[in-house]
Amino acid sequence: MQIKNVGKMDLKTVEQQHKELTEKIREYNKAYYDEDNPIVSDAEYDRTVQELLKIEREFPELSKNSVTQEIGGKPAEEFKKVNHKKSMLSLANAFDMEDIKDFFERACNFLNIPEPNFTVTIEPKIDGLSFSAMYHNGKLQYVATRGDGTTGEDVTQNMLTIKSFPKVISHPNLPEYFEVRGEVYMTHANFEYLNKERLEKEEALFANPRNAAAGSLRQLDSRITAKRNLNYFVYAVGFESHEIFLKHSDYLIFFKEQGFNVYHNIVTSSNLDDVEKYYRDMTLKRSDLGFDIDGIVIKIDDLKLQRRLGSVGKTPRWAIAFKFPAMEAITHIHDIKIQVGRTGALTPVAELEPVNIGGVMVARASLHNRDEIEKKDIRIGDYVKVIRAGDVIPQITSVILEKRNSTSQPFKFPANCPVCGSEVYESPNEAAIRCVNRITCEAQIIEYLVYFCSKNVADINGLGERQVEFLYRNGFITSVVDIFRLSKKNDASLTKLENFEGWGKKSVSNLFESIDKARIMDLDQFIHSLSIRHVGAGISKLLAQTYLTLNSFLNAMQKAALHPQSEEYIHLINTNGIGEKIAHSIIEFFQNKKHIDTINELLQYIEVKDYEVITSTSILTGKTIVFTGSLTISRPEAKAIAEKLGAHVSSSVSKKTDYVVAGDDAGSKLKNAKELGVKIIDEQEFINLANG
Ligand code: IVH
Repeated sequence: MQIKNVGKMDLKTVEQQHKELTEKIREYNKAYYDEDNPIVSDAEYDRTVQELLKIEREFPELSKNSVTQEIGGKPAEEFKKVNHKKSMLSLANAFDMEDIKDFFERACNFLNIPEPNFTVTIEPKIDGLSFSAMYHNGKLQYVATRGDGTTGEDVTQNMLTIKSFPKVISHPNLPEYFEVRGEVYMTHANFEYLNKERLEKEEALFANPRNAAAGSLRQLDSRITAKRNLNYFVYAVGFESHEIFLKHSDYLIFFKEQGFNVYHNIVTSSNLDDVEKYYRDMTLKRSDLGFDIDGIVIKIDDLKLQRRLGSVGKTPRWAIAFKFPAMEAITHIHDIKIQVGRTGALTPVAELEPVNIGGVMVARASLHNRDEIEKKDIRIGDYVKVIRAGDVIPQITSVILEKRNSTSQPFKFPANCPVCGSEVYESPNEAAIRCVNRITCEAQIIEYLVYFCSKNVADINGLGERQVEFLYRNGFITSVVDIFRLSKKNDASLTKLENFEGWGKKSVSNLFESIDKARIMDLDQFIHSLSIRHVGAGISKLLAQTYLTLNSFLNAMQKAALHPQSEEYIHLINTNGIGEKIAHSIIEFFQNKKHIDTINELLQYIEVKDYEVITSTSILTGKTIVFTGSLTISRPEAKAIAEKLGAHVSSSVSKKTDYVVAGDDAGSKLKNAKELGVKIIDEQEFINLANG
């Protein structure tokens, strides 16, 4: 081994010290992990690791293959981010056989076939958290959590604490990159053991095995993860440089051969009755499995069909979750409180006598709006049925009228905003009741500030609900622009932030650092940050993809806001995925001068990057296509193919149309295209273009 920069220290001594410390740590690890019997205190362990790390910082060459790189090394400060090479989707839900039939019908319609002629796999839906394990040339490269589906966290060290997890895989035709996806979970037995231990140590209990599994996998100290005994099942292939099998079920067999855990009873069938039977069987077996499942999953087995079907938003058209019915309990409503949100909507929330529903303690349930309370006649003091289904927020389904007190009165929805006292109004075409005071209602201001800082928007670390409220109440920030002036304001103010309780020097400087990071925003992030009603992350991305730069977005929106008949407005409303409701809401936003002023002010402090087009360009990118006549592929599939390649699909032919794809019996659109001299192609030519 070659060591540079030895300086004063003698090389032999350093190497010797490194070796001795390594041996010590290995011994400690063995006792801790394998024998479950630590021989030193945590503090002593940490000190030894620190000592070793100190040497390695000075002589980085020594850190190669060091024990500090293995499980049980010093916990990372935070997880590394991993960009998924292929998005991790979620599943749409079905709750009865009708929904399952609809799923099959939708798939048939999309594929333009009269009857399902395909097989599906039927598997349990494991209630844990998903992971993705990437193998590079057969060697495990990293394991990541799902995160937001696009970016997850690197939890390799933690996953490796599951001893049986394969670190190498092989196949004669193994792709360079090969990703295996599955679910990490905790068994009931491990969960109970863990909570018992936590109870003894007076630590907070985990609400259910899924939370415990998530808390354990997303644990910075992998020594703790190791103690939690996590389990996993794999359920699908993820990214692969090239395909090795034609069927999903063949991948499952391959995974099993490679030593992965695959649930032992996965059925392949083309019969709907088998879906129902599997569902019924699993409902009965559920409580004896020893781990939580929250339904079953049905997937079309043929991978070519899966690719053709693609996905709508974040859910594939080729798979569906058939969920078990929600779990329910009866409890008492202590009070009904009204919350005022970022858009001024008054949301009633029932405060409940805490009740355990399927392992989760539930103390509050949203009542959504006034209509909901009236429809169900929910009153303070009532006993109610509460259900919880998977991730869904607890819902009150009905009132137990026999238990109602004879003196009880219907709930009176307030006529004024409970925060600022302003009047409230019923927004047209919506069930929401809103506070009129959009400018100075404190609840709306604070909620918007919190929203702006949140992870999915400007992502300002260290500015959560509590901190935002503190800064607002103490006059540090009153608008989003103030966030970017905070450090200046702090310099000038008499009582500096670092002098307030809970705001040390370090946390203030960390905060300013996160604010500085937010000074450069992606276009979709910026659009999302405006808090335009009905414009969430997905629509923001769509708008960014459509307009590409901030200037063209702002120019187009301002023109559209001025003239409802303008070209810009027509373009906006015709953008696939936008539609009238969203377009109106955007226009309304840009008609308000105050919003334009805030944007201009904000832009003095932040920079908005142009949208980066990631889809590879094809001959159809940016082209406008019109489909007409009957095609052998379904319209939705034709549209999906075109849009995947960056084309815009329009329903009418104009001078701006690049291609008209004409099937049999095409009528007036074809005639129009001929008159305008638009290029006309048939279905096969379109498919050829799409295939490049
Ligand atoms: S397939 C695109 N199969 O359920 C479909 N998911 O909402 C990818 N899950 O995020 C998922 N068991 O974490 C699939 N047998 C199974 C599953 C399963 C559990 C989870 C997974 C996914 C979520 C879907």
